[in-house]
Amino acid sequence: MSTDSNDKLSSARFSQATDAFVEIFTASVDFDQRMARHDIQGSKAHAAMLCEIGVLSEEEKNAILTGLEQVGEEIATGQFNWSVKQEDVHMNIEARLTELIGIAGKKLHTGRSRNDQVATDIRLYLRDEIAAIESELQRLQNGLLDLAEQNADTIMPGFTHLQVAQPVTFGHHLMAWFEMLQRDRERLQDALKRINIMPLGAAALAGTSYPINRNITCEILGFDRPSSNSLDSVSDRDFAIEFTSAASLIMMHLSRFSEELVLWASAQFDFIDIPDAFCTGSSIMPQKKNPDVPELVRGKSGRVTGHLMSLLMLMKSQPLAYNKDNQEDKEPLFDAADTVLNSLRAFADMVPHLSAKKDNMYKAAKQGFSTATDLADYLVRKGAAFRDAHEIVGLAVKLGLDSKRDLADLSLTELQQFSDLIDRDVFQVLTLEGSVASRKHIGGTAPDTVRAAVAIARKAV
Ligand code: ARG
Repeated sequence: MSTDSNDKLSSARFSQATDAFVEIFTASVDFDQRMARHDIQGSKAHAAMLCEIGVLSEEEKNAILTGLEQVGEEIATGQFNWSVKQEDVHMNIEARLTELIGIAGKKLHTGRSRNDQVATDIRLYLRDEIAAIESELQRLQNGLLDLAEQNADTIMPGFTHLQVAQPVTFGHHLMAWFEMLQRDRERLQDALKRINIMPLGAAALAGTSYPINRNITCEILGFDRPSSNSLDSVSDRDFAIEFTSAASLIMMHLSRFSEELVLWASAQFDFIDIPDAFCTGSSIMPQKKNPDVPELVRGKSGRVTGHLMSLLMLMKSQPLAYNKDNQEDKEPLFDAADTVLNSLRAFADMVPHLSAKKDNMYKAAKQGFSTATDLADYLVRKGAAFRDAHEIVGLAVKLGLDSKRDLADLSLTELQQFSDLIDRDVFQVLTLEGSVASRKHIGGTAPDTVRAAVAIARKAV
């Protein structure tokens, strides 16, 4: 980063050079240079529009477009000399453009301000980020669907309070993750409706006296419509907050997913195998295989929620219109987008390689009297009131606990001492297979229902 190029921005008004530290302190080029591509995209559209309304000549416009092309090339190939003297990405690009093409470069900023420029850049940037995030979300969803299909019949314990509750199928559990991610995608799409509005043309805050045609720039840049109020346009960062909120929810979902993977990969659960490629060892304990990817993603979820809080606090109490405070929006926003994208990528890569340890899952489902509710439902079907059935099953569970046996391992005579409604057919409902197969309504855990849910979901992704 050079600090020795051109003069201070708006230098004519100042009689004192900027304090050397203040120059560095107020600059944003270190981080906003990552919006260079979008800044150039916006500038090209602006130049084309200025030419259409007669503010720029055809030659000037062409010089600007070619010049911006070259600047873009220099940036992409790492040859660009970023300077804190030029404060931010916008001024750096404009200064270099002028260096390259002369006077026409100085005309590019006609009828706009960095305030509408930066708001436009962020929106263009977020649009691209959302597309990338969505495609990782989709890849992860497809991995879940494949795994769910393979495990539509795999029985595992379902938990409430992390205590064995009722048997479920692993496929059903995986489809719960699918549902969460589907909502995440919908949320991003919804946020996109408000992101894809064009602030360009609001200029500093009050619009411009040039006869700009905002529909032209809007069309070129692929925005849904120009924004409706110039003051709001340059000061609004709701869209960044909404995005970061959607990103926080994705990370919260991934953290829950992670937590289960970490538990399931432990020797105590031993339900799944996470392939070696997604784990690391310990520097001291040779036997260790740690589930690093889910642990790290669980940890990273906190920082995205932190960024959401930062952005909310950044905007709180800001008067209209643009304030320098807003420069602080970028680092949290960029990091939120990077973190969610990378976390999804790691998960999308990992999930197809997870394998279920079916025997262990089955054994665990047999513990904890997971078919107790099925026995109660059986008694109700035979004529008992549910509360009485609940009581009867409680007694059977007590006998099981005292004799260290599951309900299905009690003899018919033993069961019948609690109720004469119990018959030989009781063993069909006491098995794990019978229990899951009976839950075949919409949203149920029965293997066939899971297969049907996967088929429907495949169409939705
Ligand atoms: N670097 C600034 C930002 O990130 C660009 C807009 C600056 N506008 C201004 N009037 N100081 O927000």
